[in-house]
Amino acid sequence: MKILITGGAGFIGSAVIRHIIEHTDDSVLNVDKLTYAGNLASLASIEHNPRYQFSQTDICDRAALDRLFSEFQPDAVMHLAAESHVDRSISGSAAFIETNIIGTYQLLEASRYYWNSLESQQKQAFRFHHISTDEVYGDLEDTDALFTESTPYAPSSPYSASKASSDHLVRAWYRTYGLPVVMSNCSNNYGPYHFPEKLIPLIILKALAGEKLPVYGNGQQIRDWLFVEDHARALYTVLTQAKVGESYNIGGHNEQKNIDVVNAICALLEELAPHKPAGVAHYADLISYVTDRPGHDLRYAIDASKIQRDLGWVPVESFESGLRKTVQWYLNHQDWVKQVQSGEYQHWIKQHYQSASV
Ligand code: NAD
Ligand code: DAU
Repeated sequence: MKILITGGAGFIGSAVIRHIIEHTDDSVLNVDKLTYAGNLASLASIEHNPRYQFSQTDICDRAALDRLFSEFQPDAVMHLAAESHVDRSISGSAAFIETNIIGTYQLLEASRYYWNSLESQQKQAFRFHHISTDEVYGDLEDTDALFTESTPYAPSSPYSASKASSDHLVRAWYRTYGLPVVMSNCSNNYGPYHFPEKLIPLIILKALAGEKLPVYGNGQQIRDWLFVEDHARALYTVLTQAKVGESYNIGGHNEQKNIDVVNAICALLEELAPHKPAGVAHYADLISYVTDRPGHDLRYAIDASKIQRDLGWVPVESFESGLRKTVQWYLNHQDWVKQVQSGEYQHWIKQHYQSASV
């Protein structure tokens, strides 16, 4: 297959591209604007492979998308490009509306235009895979309930509302125009190449620098963590095996309170990085409770039984082994870390955590 992947320079997109190039015979065109979150260094291991190409393109640019579709002639699209950080969506929502809603609309229209031009066999085989989040469902009370594929949408943040909008557009393009779509909604990912504005890499790098570890509110919020390579494998499974129009929830069956995640990282660092910064007796002493995120969702938890039943996918990484691999990866890849901690990153950390009073 020839697969056009949007957002392939990001955290999950780069894991998907590494998976496809390393484990299949498919070819990839990576279409990425290279925002602050996009980093081609995450693709260094496959960038010279003849089955990989890159185009620095904004998905809001319809003319550029039409050119790429016509030149590359994809058999499938995997759509991951998005603004993805909830806190940034609270301090500035415009880019989220632009990329997540308008960008998805432009990509759907470019796909539909291209798909309509295909011969019948190719047209039947074509797939548009929309990659989304469990945050579209809102949050759960601290009960036994889990998000299923039929949980009603109730997004809380500008980020999750923009992703919910994009999901609705994709369903409408399937129902109205017959565009052959498949969809998936996943829980929190973690692992190598994760941009350090998100909780797990932020805590690892702040602890190593001897800085305070910001825990929002009381730290009792729950997230369902999935190792990114398990997600990449799930996405390829959905793309290649799901029936047109189907939607799958993907999760790790791994609910953790934020404060427990932070303590687990501190414990791993005690073992893997015992030479601490000056003045730090224990990494956990750096934990600091700060102002809560506005509208903070209490709990996410995915029922991933449909993808297991229909497509045979299950996660293979446990949270213990995945978190250990992740901490060790950041210790071993200081070059990647230094590169992403550029001026823009410093600016965000200073502005955001000053107002959160760390
Ligand atoms: P990320 O922020 O790490 O990467 C996003 C990528 O999209 C970057 O490479 C960026 O340059 C690119 N991009 C942004 N705007 C663009 C535009 N207008 N045109 C082209 N490229 C653009 O995000 P991620 O964490 O890898 O998430 C990927 C997708 O998966 C997103 O759609 C996100 O909503 C979804 N998702 C993420 C998680 C998670 O835990 N990270 C969980 C479930 C779903
Ligand atoms: O559930 C899937 C979603 O997971 C994805 O759709 C998003 O793209 C992804 O960013 C992630 O969203 P979260 O808001 O859950 O992830 P984040 O890493 O920002 O925060 C995880 C939890 O940790 C959340 O409850 C907020 C808390 N937190 C986060 C930061 C950055 C803190 O306590 N302190 C922090 O400094």
